[in-house]
Amino acid sequence: MAALPPGFLARALNRIKPSPTLAMTQKSRELKAAGRDVIGLAAGEPDFDTPDNIKDAAIAAIKRGETKYTNIEGIPELRAAIARKFKRENHLDYTPAQCFVGPGGKSVIYNAMMATLNEGDEVIVVAPYWVSYPDIVLLAGAKPVVVETRLEDGFRLTPDALDAAITKNTKWIIFNQPSNPTGACYTREQLKALTDVLLKHPQVWILSDDMYEHLIFGGFKFHTIAEVEPKLYDRTLTMNGVSKAYCMTGWRIGYCAGPLPLIAAMAKLQSQSATNATSISQWASVEALDGPQDFLPGFRRVFEGRRDLVVSMLNQSNGIECPVPEGAFYVYPSIRKLIGTRTPQGKPIATDEDFANELLNAEGVAVVHGAAFGLSPFFRISYATSDTVLEDACGRIQRFCGSLH
Ligand SMILES: Cc1ncc(COP(=O)(O)O)c(C=O)c1O
Repeated sequence: MAALPPGFLARALNRIKPSPTLAMTQKSRELKAAGRDVIGLAAGEPDFDTPDNIKDAAIAAIKRGETKYTNIEGIPELRAAIARKFKRENHLDYTPAQCFVGPGGKSVIYNAMMATLNEGDEVIVVAPYWVSYPDIVLLAGAKPVVVETRLEDGFRLTPDALDAAITKNTKWIIFNQPSNPTGACYTREQLKALTDVLLKHPQVWILSDDMYEHLIFGGFKFHTIAEVEPKLYDRTLTMNGVSKAYCMTGWRIGYCAGPLPLIAAMAKLQSQSATNATSISQWASVEALDGPQDFLPGFRRVFEGRRDLVVSMLNQSNGIECPVPEGAFYVYPSIRKLIGTRTPQGKPIATDEDFANELLNAEGVAVVHGAAFGLSPFFRISYATSDTVLEDACGRIQRFCGSLH
């Protein structure tokens, strides 16, 4: 491969790294293609197919000729469906004009950050965090301020830690629950304690990433920031998407709602980048949001069963402590008791990255190490796969942990 001329690449690229979760997913795919017996538990996507009514809506849209550019902010029908969704499920009043559609939830977050951040701005990111938040902030030329949570607090941000992280330069906090990677979720009271802190700091805006809202277990009730504290409505961007709840990761639709001037700024940016999200996927998303929601309880039940299976098997593994998450489809077990051990071949487990690499080498199980999410020593398992595969994978993890000494 010919080298690029010196200075050819953007300096901004040096500030970021490729997504570690996508890298691990790709590595396990390559090993599988090369004939290795690999179980991939790194990818963050449901294993279910997109429901048929949603696929049919897309096919009908193609046949009707809905195959042209759309409005930058999204088709009016989808923006209206998003406004209805926020009213129905979150008790939030947004007009369709306040609703914005982009090609995936990631793109919506990227767009909000690029449209608002300047050098010197700080963005609070709660660790362990979804891998893309700090890098998006860095790309936008601002500074991610990482606030760590503790396993002992259920990986929840505490009001004191939030207050201590805020400075006069804080422009945003990106707040995600149920969390990727821990599955942690907050009660209304826990959220109120955080919004009370945010009320004291009028310079701070809130990006509420509610992507896993529908994946919540055991009767836990989801609440979003602008609903819990209406006084924060004017500085909150409530963000969501169809990728996880409706098994539509490949369709690339994310959305948000917020104050009109922010939406206008995001539309200006999107007019000079993606233009619009795919017309066909937008029509499919109208059906996802407005159509029958009755598959969701079954979907949740399956995920809850898998969560219980994985948590129980991991807690029976030598040296692993796995808390029970309230939502999403991830667990984030601690391996602090295994740091300092060695594999039977004498390879040291000094970090969670060593653990993930040696687990892949020894047993062919691909997980993502905690450092990728900003909190060690842990690893993340995505349990969006069948019980049989999960039992096999957890059995291999038990064997691997048992072999460390
Ligand atoms: C917390 C969180 N937010 C946003 C996204 C982005 O979703 P999308 O696939 O719609 O870009 C993801 C995807 O993994 C996620 O885990």
